[in-house]
Amino acid sequence: MAEIRFTIDDKPCTAKAGQTIWEAARDNGVYIPVLCHYDGLKPVGACRICTVRVNGRLMAACTQPIGKDMIIENTAPDLEDMRRALIEMLFVEGNHMCPTCEKSGNCELQALAYRYGILAPRFPYLWPRREIEAAGPHLLLDHNRCIQCLRCVRAVKTKDDKLIFALLHRSGKVRIGLDPELGPRLTEETAQKAMDICPVGAILKKEVGFAVPIGKRKFDAAPIGSETAEKA
Ligand code: SF4
Ligand code: FES
Repeated sequence: MAEIRFTIDDKPCTAKAGQTIWEAARDNGVYIPVLCHYDGLKPVGACRICTVRVNGRLMAACTQPIGKDMIIENTAPDLEDMRRALIEMLFVEGNHMCPTCEKSGNCELQALAYRYGILAPRFPYLWPRREIEAAGPHLLLDHNRCIQCLRCVRAVKTKDDKLIFALLHRSGKVRIGLDPELGPRLTEETAQKAMDICPVGAILKKEVGFAVPIGKRKFDAAPIGSETAEKA
């Protein structure tokens, strides 16, 4: 199969046909941040953190197929500032109390805030009132921390492909919901899978706390994006 040639921030790169910009960048050791995307899940383009400029047009790198001779900008100051603003908006839109969150150190939103050097958001906090659902014996769903990335909806299903998580309501009232029958019957293993796929601390497995101590978690060891950059 013919190689596709493109550049990203002036670096000459090659890709295979059928790859997205994000996949092609990753295979060339270029980190493009993602939040809603998870390798192996169908991309949905929900969060826009991965926005790059392609031949002058803004595109979501996780959904846009790579094309021949694309000139891609990934780290232009305006793109990086837009990402910073999106991360800040996610922080003010929910209630994210990192020091008390079980996901601290494994949280992708927190890790991105560190990567982008965010100390305080430029937007006012909204402090929404949201509930915490104790769904069955194994799962907690904390709506305060949900960033509506839809990873749980796409990844956690029954063996016969029924959805367990779904997006409910519209507009400002939109939220993730658990199927009232299937949710409480989740196995411990599926609850762990849901917790692992959630980029933040919105899905937590009950009765497990600080199994890995703070300071020894994923992003305590290396900043987000370093795995991709190390391959370069
Ligand atoms: S619960 Fe977690 S995985 Fe599901 S949409 Fe919210 S943030 Fe994403
Ligand atoms: S990671 Fe591409 S839109 Fe969310």
